[in-house]
Amino acid sequence: MKLVQPNSPAFDLEAVRDLVADDWRAVNREIRNQLASDVALVNSVAHYIIGSGGKRLRPLLVLLSARACGYTGQQHVLSAAIIEFIHTATLLHDDVVDESDLRRGQETANSVFGNQASVLVGDFLYSRAFQMMVEVGQMRIMDVLADATNTIAEGEVLQLMNCRDPETTEARYLEVIYRKTAKLFEAGVQIGAILADQTRAVEDALLDYGKQVGLAFQLVDDALDYHADRDELGKNIGDDLAEGKPTLPLIYALQRGSPKEQVIIRRAIEHGGLEEIDTILAAIQTTGALAYTLTRAREAAQRAAAALTRVPDSIFKEALLQLAEFAVERRF
Ligand code: IPE
Ligand code: IPE
Ligand code: MG
Ligand code: MG
Repeated sequence: MKLVQPNSPAFDLEAVRDLVADDWRAVNREIRNQLASDVALVNSVAHYIIGSGGKRLRPLLVLLSARACGYTGQQHVLSAAIIEFIHTATLLHDDVVDESDLRRGQETANSVFGNQASVLVGDFLYSRAFQMMVEVGQMRIMDVLADATNTIAEGEVLQLMNCRDPETTEARYLEVIYRKTAKLFEAGVQIGAILADQTRAVEDALLDYGKQVGLAFQLVDDALDYHADRDELGKNIGDDLAEGKPTLPLIYALQRGSPKEQVIIRRAIEHGGLEEIDTILAAIQTTGALAYTLTRAREAAQRAAAALTRVPDSIFKEALLQLAEFAVERRF
């Protein structure tokens, strides 16, 4: 196997996807087939967001985890599609809540179709995911996914409570990102182990891996919101600041900035908006807030890799290790 180095600009997940090429095609087919509805607007909105691509990292994790556990059946394909549906439903709702207008390099569904259609089609995707879980027909998988979906919702609500609150601590922030993001990564890899009927020890190792990769992924996402290339990321920069969302770069800059910067950051969190973006970007720079955030992400990715030592060696495990690095090195 020849994988492109994650820190090279050519790292595009293709080599990892190629490892599970047949499964990958089957998942994409499943996603398309399961989107069907006889309600025209459901089809339009669902195809719009699903058709805009996305990295499909979470379904990839399901496939790799199942294969790393020696699974030889076919249920991982449907399970991977379920995870992507849940993820996509959260994005439809999240863009309404965050008032975002760019995702995956195109206008968000709420910008094109409106908030009402986005929320309702998000509900369609969630409930279609439930139907698909029943199709998988395994109570433990149902348990993991029901729990994950509920935890994501709690995470988004917790984050809403932190919004505009400059007293938000790093610990409160970490709790939010665990729930809103890492939990679904965790569920994805855990399902691979459950399908393959692995020991609890291997399942727990994968669960730890998923949690840490998910944390790294969101930490990096929150750093990218301050410094990414908009076209490469496919999302607008500064969305978090505009909302008054205290993510780690801002929390750290608030702690370490000069008294004058602290006043400005506090006000920006309390009121939202991008009026002070230049001062805030400078504070983020001088305090080393992005470096701090990326260090936390790198540590999480290292913990993810360490967890995998408890999983038998295979080419699929290698790919999982690469994805942990991708979570940190990514620019999109
Ligand atoms: C976006 O996730 C939401 C976060 C958890 C940051 P992705 O960056 O995986 O989104 P897509 O599916 O690739 O667009
Ligand atoms: C992503 O939250 C997590 C969920 C959608 C549950 P964000 O709001 O941080 O992600 P982006 O930046 O919109 O993708
Ligand atoms: Mg958002
Ligand atoms: Mg974000």
